[in-house]
Amino acid sequence: MIMAYHTNYFSLDRETFNMKLAISILCAVALVTGVISVDRTIFKTCEQSSFCRRCRNVEPNNSSYELVPATLSTYSDSITVDLVNKNNGHIFVLKVEGIHGDVFHIAIDEKTPLKKRYCVTDALKEPIKLVAVEVVKSNSNELVVKYGQNKAVIHATPFKIDFYRSEMLFVSANARGLFKFEHYRTKANKSNDDVDNEPGAWEEDFNSFHDSKPNGPEAVAMDFTFPQAGVLFGIPEHADSFALKSTSGGDPYRLYNLDVGEFELDNGMALYGSVPVIYGHGTKGTAGVFWMNAAETWVDIYNQDLQKNVSSSGSAAHFMSESGIVDAFILLGETPQNTFKQYTDLTGVAPLPQPAALAFHQSRWNYNDEKDVLNVSKHFDIHDIPMDTMWLDIEYTEEKKYFTWDPQTFPHPLEMIRNLAASGRHLTIIIDPHIKTANNYHVHGDCTKYGYYTKNKDGHDFEGVCWPGNSSYADFFNPVVRKYFADQYLLENFNTTTNDVFIWNDMNEPSVFSGPELTMPKDNLHNTEMGTFEHRAVHNLYGFMQTKATFDGLYRRGNGKYRPFILTRSHFAGSQRYAAIWTGDNTGDWGYLQMSLKTCLTQAVSGFSFCGSDVGGFFKDPSADLFERWHQAGAFQPFFRAHANMSTKRREPWLFPEDSKLVVRDAIRKRYTYLPFWYVMFYEHERFGYPVMRPLLSHYPNDPETFAIDNQYLLADRLLVHPVAQEGATKVDVYFPRHSASGDGDLWYDIDDYTVYDSVGYVGIPVNRNKIPVFQRGGTIVPKKEHVRQASTLMKNDPYTLIVCLDRYQEANGTLYADDEQSFEYRNGKYIYVQIEFKKNVLSSKRIDPSAKFDTQVSIERVVITGLDKAPQSATLSTSSNNVALEVIKNENSYSISKATVNIAEEWKIILNY
Ligand code: NOJ
Repeated sequence: MIMAYHTNYFSLDRETFNMKLAISILCAVALVTGVISVDRTIFKTCEQSSFCRRCRNVEPNNSSYELVPATLSTYSDSITVDLVNKNNGHIFVLKVEGIHGDVFHIAIDEKTPLKKRYCVTDALKEPIKLVAVEVVKSNSNELVVKYGQNKAVIHATPFKIDFYRSEMLFVSANARGLFKFEHYRTKANKSNDDVDNEPGAWEEDFNSFHDSKPNGPEAVAMDFTFPQAGVLFGIPEHADSFALKSTSGGDPYRLYNLDVGEFELDNGMALYGSVPVIYGHGTKGTAGVFWMNAAETWVDIYNQDLQKNVSSSGSAAHFMSESGIVDAFILLGETPQNTFKQYTDLTGVAPLPQPAALAFHQSRWNYNDEKDVLNVSKHFDIHDIPMDTMWLDIEYTEEKKYFTWDPQTFPHPLEMIRNLAASGRHLTIIIDPHIKTANNYHVHGDCTKYGYYTKNKDGHDFEGVCWPGNSSYADFFNPVVRKYFADQYLLENFNTTTNDVFIWNDMNEPSVFSGPELTMPKDNLHNTEMGTFEHRAVHNLYGFMQTKATFDGLYRRGNGKYRPFILTRSHFAGSQRYAAIWTGDNTGDWGYLQMSLKTCLTQAVSGFSFCGSDVGGFFKDPSADLFERWHQAGAFQPFFRAHANMSTKRREPWLFPEDSKLVVRDAIRKRYTYLPFWYVMFYEHERFGYPVMRPLLSHYPNDPETFAIDNQYLLADRLLVHPVAQEGATKVDVYFPRHSASGDGDLWYDIDDYTVYDSVGYVGIPVNRNKIPVFQRGGTIVPKKEHVRQASTLMKNDPYTLIVCLDRYQEANGTLYADDEQSFEYRNGKYIYVQIEFKKNVLSSKRIDPSAKFDTQVSIERVVITGLDKAPQSATLSTSSNNVALEVIKNENSYSISKATVNIAEEWKIILNY
């Protein structure tokens, strides 16, 4: 149906129908008749993909590859050794390197390839830093490579590598013997092995599409076993549970960036992004594998169930990629948090966003014209609902020509942008990667003239169909093309925008309505920094490369003074350095609200802390109940944007009954009160590399019950969030985790009334319509701002409130972070980062980086303390200059100290007097 949706849309577009009307009617009819659902015939199964079939058919425990230990070469930070495929005598080279921080890197390529294979480099934030390794054993059976507490034991026959940390085996490569490397060959000189005789090896048809496959078979595959793991997770993006399921009897999980509208839930079909990192976790420890390959990849999962004591060789993942090399990082983190950090140390983090990007975004396809935009913005004020960013989808452009405005509907964009800015608001506009092939369009003119388009297999500019009709696709793999597109964002070029305009890169899988599986033919050609490569080798990096250009453009547009905000649909490992992501075209049904938590949780451990979903659902009109609950859930997810398809009814909050509007308003206002907490979490994410949104197992790794929980999560290690995501729920069963399988848990305080939960296991929490079940952990301090204004930018100078929740020892700790909220000056030491501690009845603040300086008048005005075991009579605020007596007010479950006005840059103490 999606294909029909796209193609009909296009044909309607080609005739002179009014596009908006056409698509609205199409979608409306489809929705009413309920026929929109994924059309599986558009997308391949593993069985329909020749390389997947070949890799999956490898017989286990019968590896044809052997190490040739005599070829060992040792270098200060690596070793190389040959591998031979006994079936055909082809020789490969295995390289093993040690990377600072308990990580091994392995690479396998042909020893003398017919041509160079594509190796991914861009996913890494910088070239990897190697450490010295030592070969401590070398004989005809095995080689042992060591550094620090880590050891790789490379077995010769059968070929296998065991990775140990502190003598504990965490990962084995090729333990199942599924390693496969299809060497390059010529058609004339086939090696006549199993590979050549497979149908589809040398050319392949799917539906009406033909893949010419000039390089023939070139797949690479490897299995990784995690002997300690009770659960495997990672490899987004799929609409599936956090814990990966066994794929036996079904398709493997697929990593191939695709435009899958109204995707189905609970399966491993490919979606918009691909992040080939997987983790194995059990009570004995955690490890990960980052399979750095940008070609189409399928991943089979073999689960062992440690809890049920089923013994086998361990849970395992079998990565199968269509081309490229074996390029894998073995993350021996031992704990979940260390392992997640090892991954972000390699691929980077989300840079600290402006608070506006962490605030509430209002979008729909489409806001019709300038008046509409300003009217919606005004109504947020009338209804007292804070909002930071209005979004414009494709219709703002002139005939879907990006970097232009429709002269009828958006004749005065600058005025509109300035008008929004006067209310403290931003505008986000969409810029897609397809370029309308219209003669009067300057971007098309430039791309044609300078050869900036992706080429088809014959070397001509590739043409496909997307929103504008006939389109060509920028070749973002070429650095010159990236610079050209980055330049388009500069204010001298896009002079109808300002630095208050954020960018949304969509359809960048890339989506090609007329292409195989709605994307680009694999035999298209890109001009990369490493030479010309087929699209096949780089597919999953296409959107990454677009956002790389956009980030550069926005950075240079503001002379490095404005932190860019970009939202991207397609993504790969490392895209988090440039853009936030959302979960794509979901549906206004409860299952999709539930899925938003699972997807963002998986994304978070895979580098993408900045993730959210279309609040309310992209397709279909949500019920008022769902609309309310989705805003409540979104208020506690990192990226918080309402968005909707053009066929849905308008759904700004005030269009719902007054009582619903008030629930939504409360949820959004609650988000704003927690913005200082979101800000410190994102600062700490950039600085330390841990995810913002975390699965419970991050901090309760020894409690097996936490392993598969994906309907609740932690924000840093301070809040536990369990949004209401079931229709008509009157209670939710919140799991309060244990520190060990049978041990204690923490104290958890309900953030609304500070009721304390001192229990472990499931607790039924009653929920009324307004309730968002969120709990602050005893032992933590969370900063808030309680004066909510129309936009976050207007709250910059407002005072903070500190929420102090004590643990069993009457102690708590937290942090507060402040800077100019806009520029990168914080990276030059212009910030304040404060450690706040409660101990022995004294709350005190201490600068973490005393040399960092940021002039601010912002103060702390209120402190709320909960969990005190005796009642204080009064308090004394003590700073370097004076002591002030403060009143302590007793509330039902807490004490509050108001008028504690003290500048956040100062060091201070509040002493409780008894
Ligand atoms: C697809 C995106 O996923 C959706 O959010 C957007 O509204 C449409 N493209 C139109 O641009």
